[in-house]
Amino acid sequence: MANADYETHEHDVIVIGAGGAGLRAAIEAAAQGVSVGLVCKSLLGKAHTVMAEGGIAAALGNVWPEDNWQVHFRDTMRGGKMLNNWRMAQLHAQEAPERVLELERWGALFDRTKDGRILQRDFGGHRYARLAHVGDRTGLEMIRTLQYHGIHQGIDVYMECTIARLLKDGERVSGAVGYWRPHGKVVLFKAKAIVLATGGIGKAWKITSNSWEYTGDGHALALWAGADLIDMEFVQFHPTGMVWPPSVRGILVTEGVRGDGGMLKNNQGERFMFNYIPEFFKGETADNEEEADRWYDDKRNNRRTPDLLPRDEVARAINAEMKAGRGSPHGGVYLDIASRRTADYIRKRLPSMYHQFKELAGVDITKEPMEVGPTCHYVMGGVRVDADSTAATVPGLFAAGEVAGGMHGSNRLGGNSLSDLLVFGRRAGLHAALYAKDFGGALTVDAGQVDAVARELVEPLARVGGENPYAIQADLQETMQSLVGLIRTERELEEALRKLEALKARAKRVRVEGGRTYNPGWHTALDLRSLLAVAECCALAALERKESRGGHTRDDHPYTDDQWGKVNVVLRLKNGTLQLSREPLPEMPGELRALFQERK
Ligand code: FUM
Repeated sequence: MANADYETHEHDVIVIGAGGAGLRAAIEAAAQGVSVGLVCKSLLGKAHTVMAEGGIAAALGNVWPEDNWQVHFRDTMRGGKMLNNWRMAQLHAQEAPERVLELERWGALFDRTKDGRILQRDFGGHRYARLAHVGDRTGLEMIRTLQYHGIHQGIDVYMECTIARLLKDGERVSGAVGYWRPHGKVVLFKAKAIVLATGGIGKAWKITSNSWEYTGDGHALALWAGADLIDMEFVQFHPTGMVWPPSVRGILVTEGVRGDGGMLKNNQGERFMFNYIPEFFKGETADNEEEADRWYDDKRNNRRTPDLLPRDEVARAINAEMKAGRGSPHGGVYLDIASRRTADYIRKRLPSMYHQFKELAGVDITKEPMEVGPTCHYVMGGVRVDADSTAATVPGLFAAGEVAGGMHGSNRLGGNSLSDLLVFGRRAGLHAALYAKDFGGALTVDAGQVDAVARELVEPLARVGGENPYAIQADLQETMQSLVGLIRTERELEEALRKLEALKARAKRVRVEGGRTYNPGWHTALDLRSLLAVAECCALAALERKESRGGHTRDDHPYTDDQWGKVNVVLRLKNGTLQLSREPLPEMPGELRALFQERK
């Protein structure tokens, strides 16, 4: 294919992904006076960010004046079972309040305390009510605000464009090649710096809160470009997704339901979470119903309900109840807010949940319990970045939000994703712009690299006979769901890796009917490459880590092991082969370590 066959755009900074992190990065880069292109796989505004419904975690101290960044930092580290990159967790806790206030200045309409400040709600693992929110539509309000602010900052927005490869000039990145989803033509973006903000990998599992875009594109692009991935074994199964009807299985039921009073129950009507309080959380968690009930009215003098333990604990407990035959008729457990709150309260605080259940399941949550079960929601693992600058290990490449690893350790606390997007989105935009301003020499793109990608892209259309992309995708999702799910064993992980090898071979023979003009089969065929790459990384890292921690539970290694608490599992490509190593975590300074001795 000759140069003339694709269109070219050139920017100082290209941001790939237009959820919260991508939008915030683009805004910050533009504020530095560089030219910015923002590439969206879908339409602008359609992002998994909206699935963080319950709120943005930030120690504003509006509801609990004693809250501060140190407590937020400590909660985050404890939630991540101390595997977090401490510096990311520190920056996140310190900067989140200012990012929330900035969002408010840009027009976000938060719910209010009686005296007019931003209201904050309770979420799992957060010591104090800390989540700034807009009913149960916080992510949506965040995207709306960033989008309206962003479109006035001189950013060029490229919608419905999937990036297939990053380009390099020597060691550093020089651009990206993609295709327009509507007409299938190839596009080249030349750029001095690239920010990956592509979100997660949830579409590798069958039951997920993620929508079709989340196929691990950024993780795979980074890996193929030579960057390191860390912590890929840690996948978050949000405890509460819808389970019925089958067409909506996996759709998120916000943790805000439990934050606002929802109780988990099994088919005996038992509030089973009291049976699953881990040693680590015993002192601060109510161990009987009376105290847990009192906590809703008097949080200062009672210990919090175990319904709000961190997500990994709650998801495992629900799974255990289901396995023990104490589940609901459609394979979940019950989540009951109707017995505690009035219909008016529920409709006001949780309007989306009310409509979601009413319209999709015919359930009135002001009168009946919901049926819920774990759903693949988030990946803690991702591109290894420098905490302060978000720079990946490849010069010119930056990553922020879910695609970046380290911030959340082995398990993310609810609400910490929206704050992560704002804090590290801003940092990524800033440092990408600074890098672009400092860029020495000419920005050179090798046309041969572009042509090679363009040829690869059309292979599935040109093949005669071959595999159906949807069949491969379904088999991949089944494999990951059943063998690399919430609970794992060595035998299952080895089987998963064998199956993934076979799926990779099938994917090489994938064939699609039709042409390039809006062809979802072709898009699925192309997404398989990143999906399979991230699935393999996840299974390999999970096999390597012989312990249980956060979003990685090994039935054959059920305990958390201090030695494993000192290392990240790192994956990188060397001469085309995936290599795995264990590398030490950065050491936490003494003054931060001291925070873990304090009780307050
Ligand atoms: O449950 C929720 O509203 C999700 C929030 C999050 O993932 O941070």
